[in-house]
Formats: sequence, structure tokens, C-alpha cells
Amino acid sequence: MHKLIQVIPPEEIQKRVWELAKEISDRYAGEPLLMICVLKGAFLFFADLVKHMHIDPEVDFLRLSSYKQQTSRTTTMEMLSDICANVADKNVLIVDDIVDTGHSMQYLKSVLAERGPRSIAVCSLLNKRERRERDVLVDFCGFTLEKGFVVGYGLDYAEQYRHLGGIFELVP
Ligand code: IMP
Ligand code: MG
Repeated sequence: MHKLIQVIPPEEIQKRVWELAKEISDRYAGEPLLMICVLKGAFLFFADLVKHMHIDPEVDFLRLSSYKQQTSRTTTMEMLSDICANVADKNVLIVDDIVDTGHSMQYLKSVLAERGPRSIAVCSLLNKRERRERDVLVDFCGFTLEKGFVVGYGLDYAEQYRHLGGIFELVP
């Protein structure tokens, strides 16, 4: 059994999501925007963000899988489910739950960059810095965390705790 310690209350998340939606809407005003949700972790954040946008973005969804190769200690990334949308000449905004080591986001950016978008930017609810191994820029960041494993508001531990309204640190 784990202990959950709240680190960001629901009201604070909602306020910050509202601010981010405004910031993103202002940045892309008058331009076409494709917002891509990285499943499953970002699903609640993405829905709330889209709901509060002042512009009308196209939305699409993808899913990644990653597995550690024990022998080489490298992480192999794979697209488990791709978007359907055409990316060419569009402003693309990748929306994820958390950037941790940075491997996933670096992989995603490079895959999407090959498809000829007009621009690519990253929006992440959380930016965790302790374990960063890849230098990825988070253009729109909700909250910065130094360390810890967190759950709630879409983020899981073994498919649990996604339903929680706030962000909680999982303590063994
Ligand atoms: P990366 O290490 O930056 O490639 O992060 C990959 C993925 O690991 C994130 O998109 C999350 O889905 C998951 N992840 C990383 N840290 C946490 C955490 O603290 N809680 C829940 N999921 C996490
Ligand atoms: Mg994720």
C-alpha cells in the first residue's frame, strides 16, 4: 500500500490550466494549430486545456511505449498508436503529462519533425528535473517539480490513481 501526499491541489491545477490555455491561444492567434495529446497520462490535462482555449484547435491523439533494454541500458521508444492528422505545414503542439528523463519528448519531436510541420512546441503539465537526460525545451509548462514520483489528474502508477483531481506524491 502506498501513501499519497498532495503536492498540487485541484484548484491550483485548474487555475494554471486556464492560464496556459490563454497563453497558448495568444501565441497561436490567427494561425492553424494541431494539438496532440500523448495518451494515456495527458488525457485529463488535454481535455481541460482544449476546453479553455480561445482559438479552435485541431486535436489528435497518440500513444507511445518505451521499454528499457537491460543489456545496453538504453531506452527504446516506439509509437504504439499514431495520429491520423497530416502534420505538414501546421503548427504542432505536443501535450504531455510530465517530462522526466526527456527521452519520450525528444523521440516524439524528432518523429514529428520529419513530417514537415511549420513549427513544433511542447506543453507539459509537469516538468521534473531530477532525472533529465535529454535536453528538451518545454515551451509551455504547468508546474516544475524537482523530484518524486507523482500520480493523479491522469498520471498513474500501474494504472491506478488517474482519477484524482490533484497531483500527489507516491510514497512507499
Ligand atoms: P520521460 O522519462 O521524460 O521519457 O517520461 C516518460 C513518461 O514516463 C511520462 O510521459 C510519464 O507518462 C511517465 N512518468 C515519468 N515520471 C512520472 C511520474 O512521476 N508519475 C507518473 N508517470 C511518470
Ligand atoms: Mg506520458
